[in-house]
Amino acid sequence: MPVWLRGILFVLTVVAVWSGVHVYLYSKFAVIFQPDKAVKRWAIFALVFLAASYFLARGVDSFFGRDVALPLHWIGAVWLGYVGVAFSVFFLYDILLNLPLWIAAKVGSGPVWAVKAKYWGIRAAMLAGILVTVFGLVRNFSGPVIKTYEIALDKLPKSLDGFVLVQGSDIHLGGLVGDWYVSRIERAFEKADGDLVVLTGDLSDEHNGGDGALLGRLGKLRSKKPILAVAGNHERYSGGEPLVQKIKDSGIDVLRQTHRIIDDGLVIAGIDDSVFMPNGLGDVPAAIDESLKGAPAELPVILLSHRPSLMEHAAKAGVDLMLTGHTHGGQTPPFGILNRFAFPVIKGFANYDQMKLYVTTGTAWWGAPVRVFNSPEIVRFVLRSSL
Ligand SMILES: [Fe+2]
Repeated sequence: MPVWLRGILFVLTVVAVWSGVHVYLYSKFAVIFQPDKAVKRWAIFALVFLAASYFLARGVDSFFGRDVALPLHWIGAVWLGYVGVAFSVFFLYDILLNLPLWIAAKVGSGPVWAVKAKYWGIRAAMLAGILVTVFGLVRNFSGPVIKTYEIALDKLPKSLDGFVLVQGSDIHLGGLVGDWYVSRIERAFEKADGDLVVLTGDLSDEHNGGDGALLGRLGKLRSKKPILAVAGNHERYSGGEPLVQKIKDSGIDVLRQTHRIIDDGLVIAGIDDSVFMPNGLGDVPAAIDESLKGAPAELPVILLSHRPSLMEHAAKAGVDLMLTGHTHGGQTPPFGILNRFAFPVIKGFANYDQMKLYVTTGTAWWGAPVRVFNSPEIVRFVLRSSL
């Protein structure tokens, strides 16, 4: 299928799903408020505006700049989060209360309290949707949290025992991720005090990196050695090669199917996200092999890859620790469930033969700034030698 046709189908699917979710939510609100014709017209107008605001904000951003788009961005992003949470809560309400009552009514006359229960159920779901969204906003903006794990690497020389590698990921600079949140990220990296910082993709959503000011700040994060990074899918969507060049200009060493040797004792390899590959996902195994070409076999290997895929191949190729991101740990409901269909692991550790995989929830967010079941994070890996 040609790329342009795939693009059109994707946009149509998003519009259809997004509209369907709004019709579903409106049908619930209408049961409670029972609006007359005039109110109905205004309610529909408001819903259309809210539904479109996130996408409008992105358009305004590219024509008039980030500052002009910011108020619309806030409205759109918070609404995005509320819709995700409210849809999930109403879906649970339908499955747990509405469906059993509907079946009871079909089988017999149904319990006498059924109508009241339905009304109160919708009210409770509406309230829960608001409370959970507020909780998710607070949790998100309290980030990034710092997590620390000890990782034993069989081949790590004694001289590197205690080496601290700090991973950040999915920062998505631009939109709501501006100066104030970058300051939070800087403080977190100061605290983490890593020997080496690695960034596993989706660093910027600014077209071609914007004026480079935010990226420049990422290039100066606290790291005793030059920061290493890989390109994610958003690097491709937000400009591709010129954006990757801007990241390099900010002082970050972007690993593109290659590796670096740290202190003669540790190999860090990195690959582009599959959207950079000429044939899509099919070329990624070859990219892993290419990145390891010439790496000393006696040293431990850490592979940076934006998304958690092809772990079996990485393990077979001799990788000891694979660091990824992309999933945001599901970020906003219901994506915690939907993501599990696309990726075998959406957060935390998993083992593949001798290789350990870590999937970070990401350091900032994309779209809705609402996190319910996890926080934005940076991760300190304290490497231990078992030699
Ligand atoms: Fe991504």
